Amino acid sequence: MKNLPGQLITIEGGEGVGKSLFVKLLSQKIQSMGIKHIVTREPGGTIIAEKLRKIFTTPPKSEKICKEAELLLISAARAQHIKEKIKPALEQGHWVLCDRFIDSTFVYQGHLGGIKEKIIQSLINFSSFNINIDLSFLLDCDVKISQKRLKSRLNKSTDIHKSRFDEADEKFHKTLRSAFLEQAKKNSERFIVLNSAQTPEELITNSIIAIKKRILL
Ligand code: TMP
Repeated sequence: MKNLPGQLITIEGGEGVGKSLFVKLLSQKIQSMGIKHIVTREPGGTIIAEKLRKIFTTPPKSEKICKEAELLLISAARAQHIKEKIKPALEQGHWVLCDRFIDSTFVYQGHLGGIKEKIIQSLINFSSFNINIDLSFLLDCDVKISQKRLKSRLNKSTDIHKSRFDEADEKFHKTLRSAFLEQAKKNSERFIVLNSAQTPEELITNSIIAIKKRILL
C-alpha cells in the first residue's frame, strides 16, 4: 500500500558490516538536505519494543529461547514499533531510517532459524499494518572484514546486552551474508546493495545517489 507521505528506508546487513555508523552518517546527510526524519531500529524503537528486544537479545544462561518464541517476540516488538512510532512519522510526511526491519526476520528466523517463509510472511502481514518499504540498503562486505570489525567492537564493549549472534563463527557469518544477498535479490525492486568496505564518505555518496534516483526524482 503506497499511501503515506513519508518514506520508509530500511538498512540491513549481517553482524559487523557497519550499519550503525552508516545510519548515523546518512541521518546527518539527509538532515543537511533539510529532510525531516527519525532514526529507529528493530527489534526496538519504543519503550515496550526495547523491553522485548532485551528479552530476545539477552536470554538467561539457564534457558534457551525457542525459535517460535523468538519470532513472536520480534513480531510483537514490530507491531508496537510500527503503530507507536513508524506509522505516525510517515503520516506526518517524515522519513524513517530503520536499522533492520522485516528482511532481518526472513534471514535470521527464516533462513537461519528454519521457520517457513509462509509463517514469517503471515506474521509480518499481521504486525505491519500495511506499511510499505520505499527503499532498502543492504550493507555487504567480505566476512573477514566484518568479523574483524566485530572483534574490535566486542573487545571495546562493556555492554552485556550485545547481540547474541556477535561471537558466532566464520561459517555462520558466511551463511548470513549469502542469505542477505539472496533476500536482496528476491526484492531487487527496492534493494540497493552497498559494498560496506568503502570509505564512509563513498558509502554516503552512493546511498544519496540511490535515494535521489529512487525517491527524490
Ligand atoms: P543489531 O544491533 O545488530 O541490529 O542486533 C539485533 C539482533 O537481532 C541481530 O543479531 C539480528 C537480530 N534480529 C533477528 O534475529 N530478527 C529480526 O527480525 C531482527 C530485526 C533482528
